[in-house]
Order: sequence, then C-alpha cells, then structure tokens
Amino acid sequence: MIPAALENAIYGLVSTPALHLADKHGIFRCLIDDGQADAAAVAARLGVDQDTTQRLLLVLVALGVLRTGADGTFSVPADVRPYLDRRDERYVGGFVEHLIVHTPTRLPRLETFLTQGKAATDAAQPGPFETFYRDEQATRAFVEAMWNLSYAASHELARLAGLRDGELLVDVGGASGPFAIAALQYRPGLRAVVFDLPPVEPYLREAGRAHVVADRLDFVAGDFFRDDLPEGDCIAFGYVLSDWTDQMCLGLLRKAYRACRPGGRVLIMERLFDDDRRGPLATAVMNLEMHAETQGRHRTVAEYTDLLAQAGFSAAAVRRSSGDKHLVTGHKGRGA
Ligand SMILES: C[S@@+](CC[C@H](N)C(=O)[O-])C[C@H]1O[C@@H](n2cnc3c(N)ncnc32)[C@H](O)[C@@H]1O
Repeated sequence: MIPAALENAIYGLVSTPALHLADKHGIFRCLIDDGQADAAAVAARLGVDQDTTQRLLLVLVALGVLRTGADGTFSVPADVRPYLDRRDERYVGGFVEHLIVHTPTRLPRLETFLTQGKAATDAAQPGPFETFYRDEQATRAFVEAMWNLSYAASHELARLAGLRDGELLVDVGGASGPFAIAALQYRPGLRAVVFDLPPVEPYLREAGRAHVVADRLDFVAGDFFRDDLPEGDCIAFGYVLSDWTDQMCLGLLRKAYRACRPGGRVLIMERLFDDDRRGPLATAVMNLEMHAETQGRHRTVAEYTDLLAQAGFSAAAVRRSSGDKHLVTGHKGRGA
C-alpha cells in the first residue's frame, strides 16, 4: 500500500487541474448555489459532459474537497465553501489559475537548475516582472491573482500592524492595493501610497474607486531597484521580499530605512518557514515555485530579523495571522 503522503504527491499532478477545471466551468458555483446536486443535474445546468463532470467530482471527493451523499449528490463542505466561491474575498481560484498557467512553463526549468544551477541558466532570461507584465492580459491576470491571494488576509494583517489614523503608509510593490485598501478601510484617518511599476497604476486606481478609498490612496510609479521610495510612517512589503535574493532584499530594506520617518516602522508580510524548515507545506511548495518564477525564496523569522537588523531596523517582532501570510515588523528609532 503506497503511504498516503506519497500517494498525494504522485496524484497532485492530476488533482490541481481537476480543481481548476471544476472552478473554471462553474461546477463549484453550481453546487454552492444548489446546496447539493448529482453529476447529471450539474452537467445539465452547465451544459457540459456528464461523464467528465462525474469523474471530476469523484476526484474532488477523494481529495476531501467535496462531500458525497448516499443518494449520489455532491456538496461543498462549509469550511471549504468561502475559498471556492468567487463572490467571497477568500476565493483562491485566481491563485490556482495563476499556478496552472505559469507552472507548466516554469517548472521544467527546475531540471536545468538542478543539473546546471539557476544562475548559469537564468542569466539570459527576462526578469520575472517583464514576463508577468508582457501584455495587458497577462498584467491583469497577475494583478488579479495577487488581489485574490492577499486582500482577504490583509484585513487581519492591517489590524496586526497597529496602523494609526494620521499615518502615511507606503506599500512598496503594493500591486492593485490589496493591503493598502484593507488598511484604509480599517483606519479611516490613514493615507496610503502604493509604489509600484507603471503598468500597475490603472489597476490600483480602479480598485481605489471600487472600494471608495481613492481620496486617501495615491500611486507613485517607479522601480524600487533604481528609485528612492516615497517617505512615510510605515513602509510595507507584502510578498515582495520573497521575489528577491538576500542581497537585493537588503538593498530594498536599506531604502525603506531611509524612507521611514523617525519613530516609524517597516512591515514585512510573507509566508514563513518554521524555524526547523520542516514546513508548512504551502511555504515549502511556494519556495520551490519562487525558485522557478522569481529570484527569491521563503525565509524563517530569524532570517528576516537578521536582514532587518542589517538594514538598521531594531526591535524586530513577528505577529502571526490565522492564515499563511504573517507579519514581521522592525522599528526606526525616534532619534534616527
Ligand atoms: C508578488 S507581487 C506582491 C503584490 C502585493 N504586495 C501583495 O502582497 O499581494 C510583487 C509586486 O512587486 C512589484 N514589483 C516588482 N518589481 C518591482 C520594481 N522593480 N519596482 C517596483 N515594484 C516592483 C510588482 O509589480 C508586484 O506588484
């Protein structure tokens, strides 16, 4: 009998596309709206093939994503529902789509990295964001995936960050504003600036209007490797440092230190490895994915604390969220 852990590792190749297909074609939506339904009813309602629908549903049941009853109907368990419901801000489908689109082209490169090293094989490749932003459609897909991944988690992170009214938040690489907008919603007296590459601006403006915070939200276009960061009380990096090498992160944190007003702080929001690096699974998987997609990696709290200290920040502390994006903070002294 193959151990369950090994079995999951083997069949993951089929499981993720099954999840993605069911989401893309509205199967989850149908089950969520109807409460429960059999494959024939789902297929009829969506105008899709019944046999294929049944097989997809059975894989998802075996994975524990769906439930099935003695009457042959399928349903989405309550704890899974928010993550598969496009109308819920915890919806993960955009992120799954991002993995499905990018992984098949990126993952094969891992074999070359394995046998020849990443530096040697990656040198001639365009930078990760030149690829992500290669055209309007790809840009929108990337920005939406980031929104899906970060907005729901940002409500809790904004609370953990101890943001105060009257402060200016600078969200570096803030994309279409998942953290900046959640922070503005949490603190009505806060102002925020998103600093990001020029192609991101229309998406940030659009999200600011849609969430009625545009009057307190600004965008500064720039390249954080070339330009200085805007000055602020709180300099945030959400899923940014995990894109880059330690040396590049140190450069960014030193810029953040200069941009941070005395008495201010830096917020690093990231997945974290356990101290012994035995998990969590999502961090370990995304650490490999980051290797294929970017120049970065995931780190332990101690590694972030060390980078913060080297950049001049003191009193580093970690605040763990209930999800998988956590907060590491560092402070700049009042007299600094
Ligand atoms: C992985 S996304 C994170 C988005 C968002 N902060 C979040 O937590 O979901 C990285 C962000 O860094 C931005 N970025 C990448 N390279 C940059 C550069 N050289 N200068 C400014 N922003 C950059 C990207 O445009 C993108 O919005």
